[in-house]
Amino acid sequence: MSPTKPYQPFLLRLLHGVNGLLAIAAWVTGYLVYDSWDGRWGRLGLTTDNRALIDIHGTFAFGLFFVFIGFVIYSLKAGRSRLVRADSWQHLTRVGKPVWWYALHRLANTAALCALGLSVISGKFQSEEWLPQGEFNHLWYFVHLVAWCILLAAIALHVLLGVKVGGVPLLLSMWETRYRPEESPALWKDKILVWLRKS
Ligand code: HEM
Ligand code: HEM
Repeated sequence: MSPTKPYQPFLLRLLHGVNGLLAIAAWVTGYLVYDSWDGRWGRLGLTTDNRALIDIHGTFAFGLFFVFIGFVIYSLKAGRSRLVRADSWQHLTRVGKPVWWYALHRLANTAALCALGLSVISGKFQSEEWLPQGEFNHLWYFVHLVAWCILLAAIALHVLLGVKVGGVPLLLSMWETRYRPEESPALWKDKILVWLRKS
């Protein structure tokens, strides 16, 4: 491996990858639910009143909830250096300088995390009965719909700034499947035991 090629910790790739794929699945199926039952802001008209879509969305979203919690814990503990920090706001005043792009990138990582948090939390307040019963005006349903729009913008920003700061090699490094021997899942049990003993 070339020394300049970015490398991401295996646990980060695993959590980020599963979280990202489930988030995208929830986002797509969420749109299909909206398209089938609601369509207040426009619709493609792919299906009408399809009950199965709500269950499919609920299944992806249910799995996402648990992975998301793991990913948030990882990001706040081990991945803190890639999220906003106190001096990011100061760096944001130095428009156009490299430090400005790095601060923006951290902000975009944090925004993606927060936007998904809003989608997942508002999702927990949904009832699978609302749409079939014609109830389209619950506050939490509205928040859930807006979170869908915010997540789209946040992921676009996250990926675009990733390309700007680290180029395509950075993006690919996040989806690389090989890992270093010392990161092998076979060692996780021992590492967790050592960590538990220490804390
Ligand atoms: C940003 C993408 C979205 C994410 C991450 C997301 C996430 C979630 C989560 C975590 C739940 C709770 C699932 C559970 O614990 O049982 C949920 C439920 C639900 N969501 Fe979404 N959602 C998204 C978009 C949408 C959209 C656009 C709609 C369209 C109307 C929608 C409709 C629903 C409904 C009806 C439920 C209740 C389903 C059930 O309880 O089985 N979601 N969503
Ligand atoms: C819902 C989807 C996503 C969320 C919530 C999300 C969130 C995050 C977060 C919070 C980090 C920082 C991790 C840490 O603190 O250690 C991160 C890093 C990263 N993400 Fe995502 N991400 C998503 C999707 C994607 C997608 C689709 C791509 C690429 C196509 C991507 C590419 C990257 C890259 C390259 C990094 C490393 C950035 C760095 O070195 O600072 N992410 N992501």
